Amino acid sequence: MEKTFVMVKPDGVMRQLTGKIIGYLEQKGFKLVALKMLILDQALAEQHYAEHVGKSFFPGLVDFITSGPVVAMVWEGPGVIKGVRELMGATNPAEALPGTIRGQFAVAISRNVIHGSDSPVSAEREIALYFKPEEILAYTRPTDIWLVE
Ligand code: RTP
Ligand code: MG
Repeated sequence: MEKTFVMVKPDGVMRQLTGKIIGYLEQKGFKLVALKMLILDQALAEQHYAEHVGKSFFPGLVDFITSGPVVAMVWEGPGVIKGVRELMGATNPAEALPGTIRGQFAVAISRNVIHGSDSPVSAEREIALYFKPEEILAYTRPTDIWLVE
């Protein structure tokens, strides 16, 4: 089954939005299969955002993402990579649609509360950055028969 990496960023944790964000993805029907809380060090932050090295916003992005605890997760479900990106909303919360997470909970591009992998290649890379294979659980929910065939 398709999997993606999702992270509640330090602003989301500090603003006590973790439960709401998890609830939103649960309510959709996606399955939480791994979760940990951690504070990113410089090296992990630079690996996580490797694609943005050298951009003007990179130093501020690394400072922010290492500034407090994050909640790192793996979510599973049909179409979950694109599905989570759509539920997150646009990178700039000013452009995010009202029903999305960033549309509901954020106003600034530098404080947009959630990260989600942007492609299958990113999902695989990011999941491996944060989780060992044995930390990703396989289990059946009683609701699985009502959510996925
Ligand atoms: P993320 O990786 O954090 O899930 O966000 P994203 O895919 O929607 O956006 P991405 O292009 O990967 O950018 C990563 C983070 O960098 C900050 N950013 N600032 N000032 C700017 O022009 C700018 N562009 C991006 C955002 O905080 C974004 O989430
Ligand atoms: Mg990104």
